[in-house]
Amino acid sequence: MNKNKANLRLPRSKGIDMGTYYEVKECARKVKRIVLPPVNRQIVEEFITILGMKDKFEQYDVPIPNKVVMFGPPGTGKTLTAFYMATRLELPLILVRLDAIIHSHLGETGSNIRKIFDYAKGSPCVLFLDEFDAVARTRENNDEVKEMARAVNTLLQCLDEFEGDSVFVAATNLEEELDHAVWRRFDTKMTYGMPEEASRNEFISLLIGDFASRGTVHQAASELLSGCSFADMEQIILKAKRKAIIEDSPLLQGHIETAFTEYKPKTTGSRQNAKVGAP
Ligand SMILES: Nc1ncnc2c1ncn2[C@@H]1O[C@H](COP(=O)(O)OP(=O)(O)O)[C@@H](O)[C@H]1O
Ligand SMILES: [Mg+2]
Repeated sequence: MNKNKANLRLPRSKGIDMGTYYEVKECARKVKRIVLPPVNRQIVEEFITILGMKDKFEQYDVPIPNKVVMFGPPGTGKTLTAFYMATRLELPLILVRLDAIIHSHLGETGSNIRKIFDYAKGSPCVLFLDEFDAVARTRENNDEVKEMARAVNTLLQCLDEFEGDSVFVAATNLEEELDHAVWRRFDTKMTYGMPEEASRNEFISLLIGDFASRGTVHQAASELLSGCSFADMEQIILKAKRKAIIEDSPLLQGHIETAFTEYKPKTTGSRQNAKVGAP
């Protein structure tokens, strides 16, 4: 995700790339293994359906949604969902890290924000602002309070004027720190959390794939990884697979348990009955 593939047409500031450009094909590659919990899947599907029926909505004079905010802990699929939406809408994705813009150059934050929105106006895309809370956070803690207040105002204006064929998506880990005035600008809101059992099972099956494993591994992994994010689950299963490969063995419950112990995931504390056994 950090590879520097900024498109030349994108604005640059002080040599810092403000955005990374992903073609539809690249987006599609990234989302092959996405697991969306039912509520979020429904929200995304409805959003996409509506964008496919623009004429009808115009006919009824009902505005179409084009601003999505996603909030929840790291590693739960917010960024991945943005790639998924780009894939489904067949639009490129522009990934912008808001804190890169904000800290790039004093006095330029507002104009940077405007440049990015202008870009999206002219070129249909999914404009994805990650770490969106940087706005609110910086406004509170930074010395340059006035500069940030101006930047927030610019952002509000840009959100209000946002129209055309692009979609704006913002993600944040810190819902409560988001500026209230910014928050209510969004027509679509999605909450992310640690995966429930059904999502864990689906993801574990995708991760293990056709790798040889013992019958109990899926169930054991699902219990052990309760309270982990998707990202942590992925790392632990990969680590376990490596262990199995080294030993020339099928994937065993013990591999998952050792990988879990070594990886030390941050869990939500909802994990129950987890047996972190010695290998
Ligand atoms: N819902 C999900 N389905 C499948 N994989 C996921 C999911 N959420 C996270 N992952 C895995 O974790 C990685 C990081 O997830 P990401 O979408 O960047 O999380 P977030 O943006 O919420 O911090 C993804 O690239 C993917 O490998
Ligand atoms: Mg992210």
